[in-house]
Amino acid sequence: MSKIVVVVGSLRAESYNRQFAQALTRLPAATGHDFVFADIGSLPLYDQDDDADQAQSVKDLKELVRSSDGVIFVTPEYNRSIPGVLKNAIDHASRPYGDSAWAGKPAGVIGVSIGAVGTALAQQHLRNVLAYLDMPTLGAPEAFIQWKDGLITPEGTIGEQSAGFVGGWLEAFFALVDRHQD
Ligand code: FNR
Repeated sequence: MSKIVVVVGSLRAESYNRQFAQALTRLPAATGHDFVFADIGSLPLYDQDDDADQAQSVKDLKELVRSSDGVIFVTPEYNRSIPGVLKNAIDHASRPYGDSAWAGKPAGVIGVSIGAVGTALAQQHLRNVLAYLDMPTLGAPEAFIQWKDGLITPEGTIGEQSAGFVGGWLEAFFALVDRHQD
């Protein structure tokens, strides 16, 4: 059983991506695993001058990531890329140079958009960043999710039309995590 950090790239209270991430953790494939949602909204704006004296919220994020077996990024697409709040969190935990918390952690990338592209372009940008951070990232299946009525049930689970596909994605992610266990 694994401990997984979930990083949601939206701070919006009713965020579709947060709702989706929570529903993801209720899938049968998630049973027995431990999911911890990272708090990226309390991080300061990244400033390299603070590298030698990182804020407690930054230290907490790094410790959380280090204690995990893998990371799932659930992100919206903003202007065909990832939201600044997500990049801010990634940059924080990657520093100071040589002390990145991300290195070697298996990653999954998934996201929900109201647009037909389903966060495909944001995910592609994110993959570029994760490659540089030396995070082995699930290549397939890809999961570009469009927000539609019924995607999330009133009970907060993934709707029946998508549960099989998303469950398969989660199983593939856990297989990646297993391959990278020490
Ligand atoms: C968007 N949205 C959006 N959608 C998309 O498919 N491609 C895009 O490039 C963008 N760009 C974009 C920029 C900004 C600044 C905002 C606020 C929104 C729409 C986006 O998919 C929608 O707002 C989602 O609801 C955002 O995800 P959360 O916050 O619901 O998780």
